[in-house]
Amino acid sequence: MTILLPDSTALPAPLGGTLISRLRRPGHDFDPAELAGLPRLALGERSHADLELLATGAYSPLRGFVNEADYLSILSRLRLADGTPWSIPITLPVAREDAARYRGRVVLTFAGQDVGWIDVQEAYAARKALEAQEVYRTADEAHPGVAALYAGGDVYLAGEVALFEVPRGAFPRHHRTPAEVREVIEARGWRSTVAFQTRNPIHRAHEYLQKVALELVDGLLLHPLVGRTKGDDVPAETRVRAYEVLLQGYYPQARTLLSVYPAAMRYAGPREAILHALSRRNYGVTHFIVGRDHAGVGNYYGTYDAQEIFSAYAPGELGIQILKFEHTFYCNACGQLVSPRTCPHDASHHLVLSGTKVREKLRAGEALPSEFTRPEVAEVLRAAYAEPV
Ligand code: ADX
Repeated sequence: MTILLPDSTALPAPLGGTLISRLRRPGHDFDPAELAGLPRLALGERSHADLELLATGAYSPLRGFVNEADYLSILSRLRLADGTPWSIPITLPVAREDAARYRGRVVLTFAGQDVGWIDVQEAYAARKALEAQEVYRTADEAHPGVAALYAGGDVYLAGEVALFEVPRGAFPRHHRTPAEVREVIEARGWRSTVAFQTRNPIHRAHEYLQKVALELVDGLLLHPLVGRTKGDDVPAETRVRAYEVLLQGYYPQARTLLSVYPAAMRYAGPREAILHALSRRNYGVTHFIVGRDHAGVGNYYGTYDAQEIFSAYAPGELGIQILKFEHTFYCNACGQLVSPRTCPHDASHHLVLSGTKVREKLRAGEALPSEFTRPEVAEVLRAAYAEPV
């Protein structure tokens, strides 16, 4: 792996060159009275998160939900119709019988509140079988991403969006838009920053990857995904508590930034790794970690598929360096975190716990070994699992 470090202090340009902002404040940028009488469309959690990511520029160069030409182009060639790299279509599904109601400006609502609008330019038929196969590599409805796809409407609305206010939700202290993360990176003078995507508590293996990267770059953006995840993943509230205690105890404060990433998890493995990397570039980072089975679920993807897919693009085309790591675990004989690249001992010396095994232990009230998880993190998890549900 080559690690090119930038020699200028300029942050990487967003994809497409400009950080998109579609924030439109009621009473300031427009008169809310204009919205009276317009059709309303209630968003689900995932579309609400996508609206925020679109409007704050995390999905630059997209300015709204994608049209049919981009949709088909993303599915067939991992690019927008104009050739820009893009891996997962950001779509707005509606029921076929409702589609005709949504013309022109449509107000988007979430939890009963007006949160933004879409200027509908197109409505087109979802190709669900094709989308499942291309994006998720399976038609199996037991896959949570495929299940969500089939549960959604059959018509996709396309058009530019506006968002009235950034929903800072459950983690206001850690919720930053791409522009705000860029400001922090600039203020701290980091010339290179690595982002770490996660939907899990930070175990020792994750910490190891981040710290190996921190030996090479100036800053770490710890960027946990806090949008919708599948039911048996550890809830975001617990994870954020665990990230806070871990960072306090074991990370250099001046070189670390904890900030939440509002997206929903799609579990699309390889294709989601690309989306995760491109959106992190928009947050201003230069490097992105992709380890084993990134964004995977079950056995749908090969351990390193999410690394191999990056060869679909020319070197440098994505504008962010991918730091690829092999499977990392604790080795009793080495007495440290290792990977097959660094450890000569056989599996009998290795401590490998699957997510399922970890959850079983937590539910049974058992301690997690300190070689696997820092005690402070284990305690947060133990307490959360001990709470009556
Ligand atoms: S993910 O769905 O967000 O990818 P997770 O939080 O488990 O799930 O992983 C975060 C990142 O760490 C991903 O890049 C993943 O590939 C990597 N990773 C997780 N565990 C390991 C491990 N034991 N060895 C190497 N990489 C890992």
